[in-house]
Order: sequence, then C-alpha cells, then structure tokens
Amino acid sequence: MIRVFAFLVGIVFAGVLLISLISGVATYFADPPEELASEVWHKEHKHLALASDGPFGKFDNQQLQRGFQVYSEVCAACHSLKMVAFRDLEGLGYNEPEVKKIASDWKIQVPTINEQTGEATTRKAIMSDTFPAPSANEVAARAANNNALPPDLSLITKAREGGAAYVYSLLTGYQNQPAALLRQFPDAKTPNGLHYNPYFANLNLAMPPPLTTNGQVTYAEGNPPPTVDQMAKDVSAFLVWTAEPNLARRHAFGFAVVIFLLFATVLGYLAYTQLWAEAKRKVAPKGPLDPANKARRKRASARAGIKE
Ligand code: HEC
Repeated sequence: MIRVFAFLVGIVFAGVLLISLISGVATYFADPPEELASEVWHKEHKHLALASDGPFGKFDNQQLQRGFQVYSEVCAACHSLKMVAFRDLEGLGYNEPEVKKIASDWKIQVPTINEQTGEATTRKAIMSDTFPAPSANEVAARAANNNALPPDLSLITKAREGGAAYVYSLLTGYQNQPAALLRQFPDAKTPNGLHYNPYFANLNLAMPPPLTTNGQVTYAEGNPPPTVDQMAKDVSAFLVWTAEPNLARRHAFGFAVVIFLLFATVLGYLAYTQLWAEAKRKVAPKGPLDPANKARRKRASARAGIKE
C-alpha cells in the first residue's frame, strides 16, 4: 500500500515538473526575452599578431620597452602593476644602472615609515620594489576615477578573453555611440562620465580614452612612429610580458621536454625489442597473435618450458 502511495506521489511530482517545463518553454517562445544593446552591439576583439604568439613565440624586447614607456607615461597614472618589480625590467634588456634609475625616478613614491618619528612617509623606489600603486587604496582609486576602479594590469591579458588582442581593441575602439544603436535601443544612451566602446562587455566604460593623439609618447630613434595604433600594440605586448615574463623560457623548456620524451621513447622501444627478442623467437616464430600459429606456439612453449 505504501509503495503504491509513494509511486502516486512520484507521478504527481513528475507531472508538475513537466507542466512547469512546458509552460516555461511556451512563454519563452510566445514572449521571448528582450535583446540588450550590449548583446547586439558588442564586438569581438580585433586580430593582433605579436612576436610572442604561438609555440615558437619570443618576446620582441624593443617592442616591450616601447610598451613599458607607454605604461609609465600614460597608464601608470591610474593603473597599478602590483606583481611586477623594477628589477624584472632587466628581462626587457635594460641593464642594472638603467633599472636603478627608472626606479629612483619613478613619479610615485613607495609608502614607508620614518624610523625616527614613526610617522608615515614615502621614499624613492628601489630595484626590489614592485611598481607603487597610484592610489593608496580602493576608496582613493574610486574617488579619483568617477567611482570606477582601474584594475591592476599585471595579469589583465590572462584575465580577459582575447588577452592582448582585447586590450589592443579596447584602446583603439573608442568611438561615438552609433545613432542606429539609439534608434534601436532609445534607453541605452551612454551615461554621463562613461565612454562608448563596443569592445567593452557592457559597451560603456569609465576609462576615458587614454591614447588619443599620435606622438603622445616620444619613442627613441630607430623605433616605428608612435601612432595611437602602434602605442596600443606596444602596451598590449608589454602586458603579455607582465602576465608571463617566463613565456620564452617556458617555450624553450617545453621543447627540451618533448625532445627528451621522444628520445626516451626510442630508447624504450629499442630496449623492449632487445629484451624480448630471445623469448619471442622461441615462443612465436610468426608473431604471437596469429591464430593459425597457435598449435605451433603451444609446441614451442612446451619445448621452452613456458606454461600458457
Ligand atoms: C584616467 C585614468 C586611466 C588611465 C590613464 C588609463 N586607464 Fe585603464 N581604466 C581606468 C578605469 C577607471 C577603468 C575601469 C573601467 C570600468 O570598469 O568601467 C579602466 C579599465 C581598464 C581595463 C580593463 C577593462 C575591462 O575589461 O575591465 C584595461 C585593460 C585598461 N584600463 C587598460 C589601460 C591601459 C593599457 C592604459 C594605458 C594606455 C590605461 N588603461 C590608462 C582608468 C584609466
């Protein structure tokens, strides 16, 4: 009796679930959810080819140095780079005295405590410091940026889909909001203080266009002209390096491991044939899995004293 009752309860339960599913699907088709401007007008990131792409990729140090220059002259005013230390810059081809000078000339000083008075103060950066953040904390950072928080850029190319190509697209993607968008979505006007950029997930971001004029940063002799496009590429390449300074070493190491494994496989195979040659010759002259060979193999096994 209890079983029948439990079965009926189960049936009713499943029935209710089915009805709610059917009615949900029916409503979805009868009254589909409204499209959002950010779904229709969002753009996939542009293509960006960098020297560090692919398994053979290596960093182009000259480009990274230009990118670092763009970071230090433009982005560092708002964005921290907490996971990179000044001494890491040696990886970009700067020598020690150059890095020391970059650290001590850095516009933002490092917070510290005056040993005599115990009061909070600041000092010049040294090689072992990480890049000091432009704001003391999140509250100060938001206060300076219209209540938006400029994210730390150390790992940004790992944190966003598209990586460097996304950062490049974002930096070169600012434009006026298209009139067609407003005709389609009259409520989606870019709010005051935000900037329209179709590569940003919700189309409007709080970062004012950081790279606006060609020649905003002056590159040293022998470098390509600092157009907005070039500066955006260079700083994106630099941010690939900050996220993974060991990329080139990892690639080289990976190759060494693959070559070693191939070599070990060949050695293993040769050792295998060498070790089993004698036993195979005795047991199965025509190959161990040939069914036609079974009787002969049995006889050979008996002779060799091997039990099958
Ligand atoms: C005036 C301050 C300011 C400057 C200068 C600036 N940014 Fe920003 N940045 C911001 C703010 C604020 C945000 C947060 C935007 C938001 O969430 O709406 C941001 C966000 C970003 C993001 C993250 C976007 C995302 O997907 O969340 C990236 C990447 C970025 N900035 C890169 C740069 C680079 C590269 C430079 C230098 C070329 C730079 N920014 C210069 C203020 C700045």
